[in-house]
Amino acid sequence: MTAHFSSGLKTESNGGVNELHVELSNVTKIYEEPPEVITALHNISFQVNEGEFLCIVGPSGCGKSTLLRMIAGLDSPSSGEIRFRGSLVTSPHPKISMVFQAFALLPWRTVLQNVEFGLEVQGTSKARREAIARDLLEMVGLKESAKLFPKQLSGGMKQRVGIARALAIDPEVVLMDEAFSAIDEFTAESLREEVAEIHSKTKKTFLLVTHNLPEAIELADRILVLSTRPARIKSIVPVEIERPRSPTATEFVAIHRDIYSLLKEELESSIMRHRLSELKELQNLRDIEDR
Ligand SMILES: Nc1ncnc2c1ncn2[C@@H]1O[C@H](COP(=O)(O)OP(=O)(O)OP(=O)(O)O)[C@@H](O)[C@H]1O
Ligand SMILES: [Mg+2]
Repeated sequence: MTAHFSSGLKTESNGGVNELHVELSNVTKIYEEPPEVITALHNISFQVNEGEFLCIVGPSGCGKSTLLRMIAGLDSPSSGEIRFRGSLVTSPHPKISMVFQAFALLPWRTVLQNVEFGLEVQGTSKARREAIARDLLEMVGLKESAKLFPKQLSGGMKQRVGIARALAIDPEVVLMDEAFSAIDEFTAESLREEVAEIHSKTKKTFLLVTHNLPEAIELADRILVLSTRPARIKSIVPVEIERPRSPTATEFVAIHRDIYSLLKEELESSIMRHRLSELKELQNLRDIEDR
């Protein structure tokens, strides 16, 4: 980690930090675009402590991105509450930042200017924001690419810019939506290591949505397992394995097996529910035909 970045942060390890940081109480999200009414999340309640690394896994389309967007203040719950340090989150908070699933870089700004963006909004001086952005670009291995534009970058490079941009404002909470899924495995592994190091050296709280179970087990203190849409909490699995974690360790394999079977059970029961409703439809049709 670069001198600026580590010096700008609290450096206690996560051990001993136990303060409630993010809290969701009975959060439901319904998208109403008549005639469509989609319940994305149903009655979600959980708490994340300061410095905790929470991974969120769940079937595709269950509402994971919606959940992160609401914590980021980019969308609001239909009912229920989201709190950061005890205060209601109703709009984007300067201490909560997000790394998006689809990079979301500003195409007309260079790499450096993209990383500087949040600091610019906060009114940080040009010299200071450039120093911070250059430090972070060095940290994510993009020192030489500062002047390039997003269209000149590979997916992995774009995601590195996204991570640097999220960290530039020195957030307390970092939300990551499948941050490593659109990049090759080697790049993903090195970024995961970088994120794990930032997490272990700072008191930042991380919430990472991922489809990659080994990734979740490698990084998380706890894993939140969601059901199919509308997402409900199926389980919260603690990962009490010493870091760095080896995917071949017995406990690692056991947690992988447990969560995998939870997700499989969830998908199977959703397919069954779907089939049952199809069968009912069919029966209704037959009843109508018989009349
Ligand atoms: N702005 C929106 N308007 C209407 N419906 C939406 C909106 N955003 C999401 N949805 C719906 O809410 C549901 C959950 O979407 P979301 O993107 O949160 O899922 P996800 O778990 O992140 O999926 P994936 O794993 O594919 O990224 C989906 O059915 C989606 O169509
Ligand atoms: Mg998503």
